[in-house]
Amino acid sequence: MPSVVIVGAQWGDEGKGKVVDLYSEWADAVVRYQGGNNAGHTLVVNGEKTVLHLIPSGVLHPGKLCVIGNGVVVDPKVLLVELDELKKRGRDLFKDRALSISDQCHVILPFHQEMDKAKESLQGAGKIGTTGRGIGPTYIDKIGREGLRMAEFVRPKEFREFLEKKCDYRNQILTKVLGRPAIDAKKIFEEYSTYAERLQPFVTNTPVLLDKSRRSNKRILFEGAQGTLLDVDHGTYPFVTSSSTVAGGACTGSGLGPTSIDHVIGISKAYTTRVGEGPFPTELSDDVGKHLSKEGNEFGATTGRPRRCGWLDAVVLRHAVRVNGLTGLAVTKLDVLAGLKEVKIAVAYETPEGKAEDVPSVLSNWQGAKPVYETFEGWSETPRKARQFSELPGAVRRFIDRIEELTGVPVVLLSVGPGREETIVRENPFA
Ligand code: GDP
Ligand code: IMO
Ligand code: MG
Repeated sequence: MPSVVIVGAQWGDEGKGKVVDLYSEWADAVVRYQGGNNAGHTLVVNGEKTVLHLIPSGVLHPGKLCVIGNGVVVDPKVLLVELDELKKRGRDLFKDRALSISDQCHVILPFHQEMDKAKESLQGAGKIGTTGRGIGPTYIDKIGREGLRMAEFVRPKEFREFLEKKCDYRNQILTKVLGRPAIDAKKIFEEYSTYAERLQPFVTNTPVLLDKSRRSNKRILFEGAQGTLLDVDHGTYPFVTSSSTVAGGACTGSGLGPTSIDHVIGISKAYTTRVGEGPFPTELSDDVGKHLSKEGNEFGATTGRPRRCGWLDAVVLRHAVRVNGLTGLAVTKLDVLAGLKEVKIAVAYETPEGKAEDVPSVLSNWQGAKPVYETFEGWSETPRKARQFSELPGAVRRFIDRIEELTGVPVVLLSVGPGREETIVRENPFA
């Protein structure tokens, strides 16, 4: 049975949540495999909006198994708020037991958020513009072999011992280096052990669970967070997040091997956005940029910050095809371009070290990259009502055809509005 990975092909917020929600109808299990509550994935079903930060975007389909894989860093407090919110709205995951959290997930604690914010404020203009959710410091602890995993977190004795052993060193850094108040291990234990108790029933050996699913021919959908250009290896380093956002992360972050993956679909907006600092060659500060921001309602789903906007970038998409092994692209927000006289796609860069058709390797070339554009006629009518490719305006179809030529992969899905139904499925990877 096919299993499908969904990844962001740009700098995040491409519409992964919408596509995962749509594909979940055909899947049996939906797995988040990296990142944490830096993600904000939006679903619009029957006009009702849901924003998810940790719970997989298959959750609105009853009967689907939702898994938080070992590669995810979990803020227990945020996860419980999300679970309680869904319960209030009639989706009770406590009762349905429709969520499994890997016992190997690393746990975000209050000092991780403290360190994230303190580091950012100390760096001033050189800051990354993180979400302040403690993501980087938690992954640093994981890789530095200093972290707390779910397995220990839900065992009070182990959790208490962890805090007793590890808080001293962290307090030295917080107070002496970062100029922040010390943390109180006892207080953290009191508050967080209540969260641990509530989450304990969900905590599972998820590689075993997923392997069983795979062997019984279940269809698995992997939900990436962030995007390819935010990947710690393949992104615009150091302006990236701290995890492997590319498709390979689905393996390390779930415990299923690469032979378990059949399709990788990259999600791309019909233009580009980015939140936070870092290079963005096609960024626009003119009226077109304002059009994209306003018509696309481009504000972060997690922090509410305005997203920077610019033209579609085929150099970025070709990179995403390569490092994820994309078998298809989904292009979202085509409706947002309606009303522009012309639309552009960057096909190469002029960099301080010459013309480049592939992404630069050094930050200064990223920062100095001037896009080389191809220009296309725009479309005035909104494509929101289209449900077949043939119903789209000719200019949209030519734009999509050119994206396929420039990237060498088929556009298998088009999104023409935020609603689940505002979608054109050209090829179903689960078929
Ligand atoms: P994600 O992080 O990749 O899941 O994306 P976000 O949810 O952060 O941001 C995407 C935003 O675009 C959300 O507000 C979606 O509801 C919205 N959206 C998704 N597809 C479309 C589309 O085709 N048209 C419009 N207008 N909005 C869309
Ligand atoms: P979804 O899954 C867009 C960005 C932050 C910052 C950088 C590092 O909704 O697409 P972090 O807090 O991860 O250390 O911040 O990464 N960032 C995102 N941008 N969408 C996201 O997630 C993001 N998650 C992190 O803005 O620039
Ligand atoms: Mg988002």
